[in-house]
Amino acid sequence: MESDVKDLNLALEGRKRIEWSANDMPVLRLVKERFEKEKPLAGKKLGACLHVTKETANLMLTLKAGGAELALCASNPLSTQDDVAASLVKDFGISVLALRGEDNETYYQHINAVLKTQPHLTMDDGADLIFTLHNSYPGQVAQILASMEETTTGVIRLRAMEGQGKLKLPVIAVNDADMKHLFDNRYGTGQSTIDGLLRATGVLLAGKKMVVSGYGWCGRGIATRARGMGAHVIVTEVNPVRALEAALDGFWVMSMREAAKVGEIFVTSTGDTSVIGKEHFALMKDGALLANAGHFNVEIDIKALEALAASVNKRVKENVDEYVMRDGRRIYLLAEGRLINLAAAEGHPSSVMDMSFAIQALCAEHVVKLGEKLDSRVHPVPVEIDQTVADLKLQAMGIKIDTLTPAQEQYLSSWEIGT
Ligand code: NAI
Repeated sequence: MESDVKDLNLALEGRKRIEWSANDMPVLRLVKERFEKEKPLAGKKLGACLHVTKETANLMLTLKAGGAELALCASNPLSTQDDVAASLVKDFGISVLALRGEDNETYYQHINAVLKTQPHLTMDDGADLIFTLHNSYPGQVAQILASMEETTTGVIRLRAMEGQGKLKLPVIAVNDADMKHLFDNRYGTGQSTIDGLLRATGVLLAGKKMVVSGYGWCGRGIATRARGMGAHVIVTEVNPVRALEAALDGFWVMSMREAAKVGEIFVTSTGDTSVIGKEHFALMKDGALLANAGHFNVEIDIKALEALAASVNKRVKENVDEYVMRDGRRIYLLAEGRLINLAAAEGHPSSVMDMSFAIQALCAEHVVKLGEKLDSRVHPVPVEIDQTVADLKLQAMGIKIDTLTPAQEQYLSSWEIGT
């Protein structure tokens, strides 16, 4: 079993964190208990490229309980929780290759090591594993039953591959399941982005002008939570429908050019590139804080920021770099423009990841049980899996809902009865 983690002596701390998060993951626990009995993944090797967090650890333990042999690497160089990685190796015998702060070369060495285990199933968060597989291991594609993709940016990349006829294996778009993006992207990113921002800076949100770029699932969550803490939230968008939605939800909506002049805190969550760039840095106030919650560190044009700066003071505080402009203004970049919620905080609350990862586990079971391989395109999560996870989560929360009466069912499927 190959592993590369920072320090196995951190395992005890990691184990405590894994157990703590398990308390808040009741749906995944139920899946794990069933997997222990039924072993639906017996004999299957699973390669995962996910944020190595305490919640991911609980997903790994569930998949292991289902009989899978696992290899895990990080889906972002700054999101790994080293103590969790150590515990997975030492306490649970799972192969982990992930070091917080690893450079790009090591990041890809770890992805390669996972692919060299010749997995039958893969899980990705951002599609770097699948991309590397297609580029460097084309001969292995045939043996992979399916890959599960966790995030919006990954699904976008995989759809682009499919569109160009380059996708050579089936992918399940876990991100697109209702029980994933409605909760994980919105409430998870909403809360944990604020958490990261506060841990990195300690800033008082009340009264601050905060610019949120992108009013998608993540952006809605961030904007709403920031408003709840008293910030004056400004939204920037490129999609007119989403911009209008933000306006009618009561946020200020303007172009980034206008927002750059008034904003004190900026958070990008678009999945797009160079959303904040050279022309915007030139307009910003002294002390502006810049953070990103989107998948890749491309949303803030860091090269342009570096080029404009007279000097750069790294780590004026943990996760804070200071860029001093030639006119003396200071602009602060948080967590090197990487996902602020994972780099500066602990990622989403476990209760949210409970749903996302229950879907991952059930999708893995689904593709194994199918018996035949799906065709090579991006597939939706089966509706029954979404519904099962919703039912189990409601049960765990002690919430009972109504069911349709036969008369209501008939009414809702008929057309004869009108005014
Ligand atoms: P989404 O597609 O629902 O929303 C993105 C929004 O950004 C869209 O409304 C789009 O019109 C807008 N947008 C695109 N380019 C823009 C620009 N130049 N200026 C302003 N707005 C722009 O996507 P979602 O689910 O909100 O995901 C956003 C990003 O966050 C993705 O990269 C995704 O992978 C990532 N993500 C991060 C998480 C985290 O833990 N930090 C969790 C889940 C997703």
